[in-house]
Amino acid sequence: MNKKSDVLDSIVALCKRRGFVFAGSEIYGGFAGTYDFGPYGVELRRNVVDTWTSTMKDHENIALLDSSIFTASRVWEASGHTTGFSDPLVVCNSCHSKQRADHLLEAIGIKADEKMTETQINEIFDANRERLKCPVCGEKKFGLVRAKNLLATSTLGKFEEDDQDVYLRGETAQGIYINYKNILDTGFYSIPFGIAQVGKAFRNEISPRQFLFRKREFEQMEMQYFIHPREALRVYEEWRTERMAYYQKLGVNKDKLHWKRHDNLVFYAKDAWDIQYEFPFGTEELEGIHYRGDYDLTQHQKFSGVDLSAYDEETKTKYIPHVIETSVGVDRTMLMLLCEAYHEDEMNGEKRIVLRFAPNMAPVKVAVFPLLRNKPELINKAREIYMSLRKVYGSSKVKFDDNGNIGKRYRRQDEIGTPFCVTIDFETIEEGKGVTIRDRDSGQQERVSEADLIDFLQRKIES
Ligand code: GAP
Repeated sequence: MNKKSDVLDSIVALCKRRGFVFAGSEIYGGFAGTYDFGPYGVELRRNVVDTWTSTMKDHENIALLDSSIFTASRVWEASGHTTGFSDPLVVCNSCHSKQRADHLLEAIGIKADEKMTETQINEIFDANRERLKCPVCGEKKFGLVRAKNLLATSTLGKFEEDDQDVYLRGETAQGIYINYKNILDTGFYSIPFGIAQVGKAFRNEISPRQFLFRKREFEQMEMQYFIHPREALRVYEEWRTERMAYYQKLGVNKDKLHWKRHDNLVFYAKDAWDIQYEFPFGTEELEGIHYRGDYDLTQHQKFSGVDLSAYDEETKTKYIPHVIETSVGVDRTMLMLLCEAYHEDEMNGEKRIVLRFAPNMAPVKVAVFPLLRNKPELINKAREIYMSLRKVYGSSKVKFDDNGNIGKRYRRQDEIGTPFCVTIDFETIEEGKGVTIRDRDSGQQERVSEADLIDFLQRKIES
């Protein structure tokens, strides 16, 4: 196996070679912080989104939502996003390296608040200049701190000179808060209930990095649970338990998942934990599960002037529901699954790269090969079996391959993580002895009758 630091490079190369992920705008030299997904990337993302969505739908009281990316600017004023900054950067005038100003300050024990403006962070930086050292060259010669707003802007809907730019959403959560009353008013849900949504979010990340880990355009899967404060802490613990258990369904090794409590809670939060995963570049946040109190609805009530309170039958009083949030990125989950699955090993004396996805997450479930490509009877039988499997798993989840020798076909399927390869040989046709099924991880082959093939695969995929 590669050194840990090389593993990410090997995964990036494999993703391009086999059609999972391509650099965004690649033929024009790339566009930082964006990636495009090829056929197997699309399948893997869909598996992630479908599993998350069906877990949310298992709750009778969770509603699905698809809110718009463009929203009124007031939404982002209410949420506090328009005053915050993304990574504040400063250039070392001596070695010209770019450094995170907040990290330099943290190294001398000063915490830069995310809500600070560029001017405020420059003032703190200036006041402490003498103590701040460049971690690359050790010099103390820095330029101005540049801190861009986290939200990406667009000119959509801007017709007059003095019309303001509008924001692309920086998280899907705000779309949920502003629709909370709409969902409640449908009459199908009452507190406690949750709203779940999957969708794109955009952030002006100054230093996008580590492949899919930190992108500028990414996809979130967020759920906001609205609840009376007296029940919130108990239910918050239930959500924490459920969210950790969910990762077992994705086949993630539980020893690589860790809880991290936030030491410095933002002023409105009641409690905040992250689930972290041991990525090859370090143990980092995968999902946030945060008890946000009544901050979000209170802010939107204040800024919109719309009453967002609920009525408590028990005490006969109005109150603002509290919010429990679970928030995870599709891209970060996909990167975790790739890191988890990536292995280099030896099979039958040959080195190979294999993605050991759990069968339910694998983009392709089964590949079908005729033993030889120049024997019409083998090809016809293989195509017949291939067509019947497509009916069960869907056309994109079954592959037909008659290109090159069987060994090469196995290598290709191993590299996209196909758990099972079915080969049709002369014994299948002449002696009715069924097909061979080769297991991706052990390389072992079993003969299974044609009649039992679908049951056999189904059992293995669901186990
Ligand atoms: N609504 C809360 C929220 O957005 P966050 O910690 O900023 O909180 C939640 O984001 C999750 O979204 C993260 O745990 C991560 O999985 C994903 N995420 C955030 N920023 C990302 C980025 N730049 N690229 C990829 N995924 C990101």
